[in-house]
Amino acid sequence: MPHLTKSDTTMQHFLDIHKTPADHLRAIIDQAREMKTARAGRPRGMPDDDQPLAGRMVALIFEKPSTRTRVSFDVGVRQMGGQTMVLSGADMQLGHGETIADTARVLSRYVDLIMIRTFDESVLLEMAEYADVPVINGLTDRTHPCQIMADILTYEEHRGPIKGKKVVWSGDGNNVCASLLHAAGQFGFDLTFTGPMQLDPEGEFIGLARKAGSTITIERDPHKAAEGADLVVTDTWVSMHDSQSTKERRHNMLRSYQVNDKLMEVAKPDALFMHCLPAHREEEVTSAVMDGPHSVVFDEAENRLHAQKAVMRWCLGV
Ligand code: CP
Ligand code: NVA
Repeated sequence: MPHLTKSDTTMQHFLDIHKTPADHLRAIIDQAREMKTARAGRPRGMPDDDQPLAGRMVALIFEKPSTRTRVSFDVGVRQMGGQTMVLSGADMQLGHGETIADTARVLSRYVDLIMIRTFDESVLLEMAEYADVPVINGLTDRTHPCQIMADILTYEEHRGPIKGKKVVWSGDGNNVCASLLHAAGQFGFDLTFTGPMQLDPEGEFIGLARKAGSTITIERDPHKAAEGADLVVTDTWVSMHDSQSTKERRHNMLRSYQVNDKLMEVAKPDALFMHCLPAHREEEVTSAVMDGPHSVVFDEAENRLHAQKAVMRWCLGV
């Protein structure tokens, strides 16, 4: 797969998987894999041989908590020779009267790249519209594209091309599920969603994936859904944007969609299990599955680093 050169990738935002051309997504995954291989076995703090972010400053803005996104972006920038500043939304003027547009214009005078994790997608979109530098979506209430880029990389490392495979999402049709739907359309795999009707993924996103040629199935029976799956994915039953007051109701609705040994038994014998983490053991997934032979959750977490390094290079065209 050819590398993208500066001329065809000048200043691009990474806002969502369905908004990024499929051939560019493929090039990002391939570059991530190459970069991972190139630094295999090195201490985490040792720089890459190539330093494409030398002299670049990256702002990492968090309006919600994060472990993986925060650390993987920070380490990734440093490995590529750049510098970071991690900013919490609460410490900035965001939401205190200054518009997102003005914040974007100001930040663009100081930094070369902005990654933001926020609540409402409109904040991300306004940031991207008014920033003169690329903006990366580090999770909104609606989508989580960086996570799914890592998931694609992880699947393909273990099992080869994901095109044509059967992926099953069991649980809440949330932001991570939305980006998986986008990826189904862009990478050409089929997705079966199993969960309660009240928590179905957005119809618009299902429509997009179907329009792109993927088979998207909604199956209320989790055991029927998981039959013959190549990959089973789940996520927390209560996301950061969900009110804690809905916790009990959500748990009651989702209990039968737990990923456990019984569910994994109906998937293919070599099926993989993924979870973006943080996981709530014995809720959406049992420890037996998390720590069992199908699980690749820690490779998946590691691959946030490699996938996002390639995303940042793509954004900057370097
Ligand atoms: N998966 C993920 O985005 O984790 P964090 O919330 O810890 O960043
Ligand atoms: N759906 C989860 C993902 C966390 C990485 C949330 O939004 O809280």
